[in-house]
Amino acid sequence: MFNSSPLTAAQAAEEVKTGAAAQPAAGAGARPRHVAIIMDGNGRWAKARGLPRLAGHRRGAETVRRIVEAAPDLGVEWLTLYAFSTENWKRSTEEVTGLMELFAIYIRREGRELKRRGARVRFIGERGRLAPDLATAMARLEADTAGNDKLNLTIAINYGGRDEIAAAARRLAEDVAAGLLDPACVDAAALESRLATHGFPDPDLVIRTSGEMRTSNFLPWQTAYSEFAFVDDYWPDFSVERFGEALASFGARQRRFGAVG
Ligand code: IPE
Ligand code: IPE
Ligand code: MG
Repeated sequence: MFNSSPLTAAQAAEEVKTGAAAQPAAGAGARPRHVAIIMDGNGRWAKARGLPRLAGHRRGAETVRRIVEAAPDLGVEWLTLYAFSTENWKRSTEEVTGLMELFAIYIRREGRELKRRGARVRFIGERGRLAPDLATAMARLEADTAGNDKLNLTIAINYGGRDEIAAAARRLAEDVAAGLLDPACVDAAALESRLATHGFPDPDLVIRTSGEMRTSNFLPWQTAYSEFAFVDDYWPDFSVERFGEALASFGARQRRFGAVG
């Protein structure tokens, strides 16, 4: 048999670089540590009931509360929720304004409870386009919960994965131009360290509700080796039971990260 140790060392280095080493291997009932959710289907839920789209978003906020509450008991340590994409500005002013109001209401109503439950809340996404009051409330909740560690809850508002990667590339270019970074040192780890999610483990499982099977610009870098679960329920109908089923389905997967399983 040939000595395979040099290759193994290279693979190990690559795993460290990509974060794969820190991720659960899945299989045999393993539970995902980091779950990311594309909360889709609020509009169709409302339409099916003859209600305005905003009624669907309001019901969707109730689902957020239930899922956030259940997550720690289901072994989830990191929960990242896609609430508003950089492309969602294409919607009507009425819907966009209503959603922004809902985010402010959610922070006002749930902030104290999240803090009490030991959640550390973070927001990712470009804040420059958000109303100053909302951006202030977001920063305050992040500061108020910074010492918590029971659940790492990240909410993506005005988030776009391509913009996030472009911003990281811009920072790399700035550092090279300033003479702080050798271009030869620009690798995956250097770029990752300039993403909004720096320091987060990569998502183990991504759940998308509403039957759509696409990622819509959500965490493209971070989900390179994530497992996916597509669920037919519209987000307002997504239950803790269905959440548990999706988590259990992860345990049946075999993750290989490019190696032979
Ligand atoms: C997801 O529900 C919430 C946001 C994108 C803000 P949608 O509003 O996309 O609902 P559908 O997909 O139109 O049903
Ligand atoms: C993705 O849903 C964004 C969020 C859930 C916040 P969309 O409804 O915006 O995605 P597409 O347009 O169907 O791809
Ligand atoms: Mg949608």
